[in-house]
Amino acid sequence: MRVLAGIQPTDDALHLGNYFGALRQFVDLQQKHDETLYFIADYHSMTKLRDGKQRLHNTLDVALDYLGAGVDPEHAVFFVQSDVPEVTEVTWILSTVTPMGLLERAHSYKDALAKGETPNHGLFTYPVLMAADILLYHSDLVPVGQDQKQHLEMTRDMATSFNHHYGEEVFKLPEPYILDSTAVVPGTDGRKMSKSYGNTIPMLASPKKTKKAVMGIVTDSTPVEDPKEPQGALFDLYALFATAEEREDLAARARAGGLGYGHVKQELLAKVVDYFEPMRERRADFERRPDDVRDILASGAARAREIARPVLDHCRRAAGLGTRTP
Ligand code: ADP
Ligand code: TRP
Repeated sequence: MRVLAGIQPTDDALHLGNYFGALRQFVDLQQKHDETLYFIADYHSMTKLRDGKQRLHNTLDVALDYLGAGVDPEHAVFFVQSDVPEVTEVTWILSTVTPMGLLERAHSYKDALAKGETPNHGLFTYPVLMAADILLYHSDLVPVGQDQKQHLEMTRDMATSFNHHYGEEVFKLPEPYILDSTAVVPGTDGRKMSKSYGNTIPMLASPKKTKKAVMGIVTDSTPVEDPKEPQGALFDLYALFATAEEREDLAARARAGGLGYGHVKQELLAKVVDYFEPMRERRADFERRPDDVRDILASGAARAREIARPVLDHCRRAAGLGTRTP
């Protein structure tokens, strides 16, 4: 069973949504499956970010977040997407079996239109690049948050279409791996936590920055002394860090009245800071060894390429491409 997933370096700090929706599963799955591949999707980030220096900076920062969170290069193949440029060839190949209508239905594209943006061609074809990421490595299982589910369905469509047209089982059909409990982590304003909404709580930032974000969680104006229903972003976020008993205890205290939202935020903050403390330390340790991080990424890319080569060769052969394909 091969597991594969990536996260874009559009920002320099991953947030709780990325952690609970994706990264935590990356760490769990690397122990359970023979081969796991995790990467930083820097080509994808080009659809939004147009500053090369910033991209490289973000890529290395996100690499530290992965390593800090526990992605272990002894267990997982860890690399940067563009260090295996073959993926762009597969993107082209898949794009020729992908109907425009399929891409027009993509949430990522429709969201950009809804926001009044003028999407570039890269954003329009972004699901094809994502499919290439997945299919190039014969991935079986893809851990992602709920928002990526549609891209997995499209990936399966593209694989089926290529295999059908060329009459060979070149690509394997992947399955998404989405945990119900963390499929959509709410942001500080109650919408899905996302960089593009500016409602994130960073996972490995300093306690000071974390505090600023936690204190900014939006609540209603029920006075401290009044009973409160334990629901909404604040309680949902608390639940991610609490045991069942702690959740029940907090719910009972909220319903009884006398518990202010400010107090709940303090309790949540303490939990967030404690939970990520060992990861922050591991991140800081890697940060002191940038050459080691580059070595990890280089050997990850070399291994990823080894896995990709036979799949790409098979694909080229089936499609009758080139005269030098073995
Ligand atoms: P963002 O929405 O901040 O741009 P990305 O799209 O880069 O985040 O997401 C990277 C990974 O983190 C994806 O697997 C995505 O599904 C997951 N993810 C992002 N935000 C959330 C969230 N709020 N809840 C659950 N998973 C999330
Ligand atoms: N599109 C994904 C996101 O924004 C990132 C990504 C790119 C990805 N390629 C992937 C995730 C392949 C899983 C598998 O979150």
